Amino acid sequence: MAYYNNIVETAKFISDFYGEKIDYAVVLGSGITLELANQKELKYADIPLFPGNKKEGHVKGHANKLTFGKIGNKTVMVLNGRLHYYEGHSMKDVAFMTYVVKFMGIKGLFITNACGAINTDYSEGDIVCLDDFISLVSDNPLIGPNDERLGERFVDMTTPFSPKLVNTLLDSANQLNIKLHQGTYGFFMGPYFETRAEIQAFKKMGCDLVGMSTVPEVIAANHAGLPVAVLACATNMATGIQKRKHDHNHVLETAQKISVNLKKLLTTTLEKLD
Ligand code: HPA
Repeated sequence: MAYYNNIVETAKFISDFYGEKIDYAVVLGSGITLELANQKELKYADIPLFPGNKKEGHVKGHANKLTFGKIGNKTVMVLNGRLHYYEGHSMKDVAFMTYVVKFMGIKGLFITNACGAINTDYSEGDIVCLDDFISLVSDNPLIGPNDERLGERFVDMTTPFSPKLVNTLLDSANQLNIKLHQGTYGFFMGPYFETRAEIQAFKKMGCDLVGMSTVPEVIAANHAGLPVAVLACATNMATGIQKRKHDHNHVLETAQKISVNLKKLLTTTLEKLD
């Protein structure tokens, strides 16, 4: 299958480019930044088989490059920007880099995103470590014939997030005195921000947050057996809960502010992990 071969080839291409063992990978959501010590970079456009290269129109707030370097005592690869389903990419293309991370022999994946808070116990600027998700989108990266080399046909989702990564994040937040909630993320297709009625429906379903990304990658990580944790950044209250209208620039500004605590949290967490 071309998909599998492209994943393996891309994993080799990136590993050869960097040349050193990478411990963990981090995906950055809209507006979120993370500086590394001794940073080296590789643009997505220079990765021959990167699926996004086929399409135009990347989302503002995404740098579209890999960066490599140190956070604390770990070597990390940061994915600055991701593909979204709402851009017209297939779910398999959205999930592609998650499988690449797995095939590079990386031990775990931390995903960040910008999202809206439905739960009124949360405030704008809060970080939520995901405990579960609800997909509100009738598509996912596992649809179609299964390639056993990537993972098994029927994927268990009892524990979608790695208890080890999650517990280490919670521990680190406690130590650093950073407020870290746990909650359920609703994956909405977008790209329009949800209506008031949709938010009320998602609230009744049990969503604490709503956003337009992350879940395809989480599903692929579970399929591939790659430990994953998500730090969701509430850049705004969801439609109808906040009284003003949405504004992507506000999302980016709040995400930038949250980046300071995210870096502290990731640094302490990575230092605790093997
Ligand atoms: N809804 C969906 N996606 C988002 C939001 C939101 O309120 N904020 C940032 N990304």
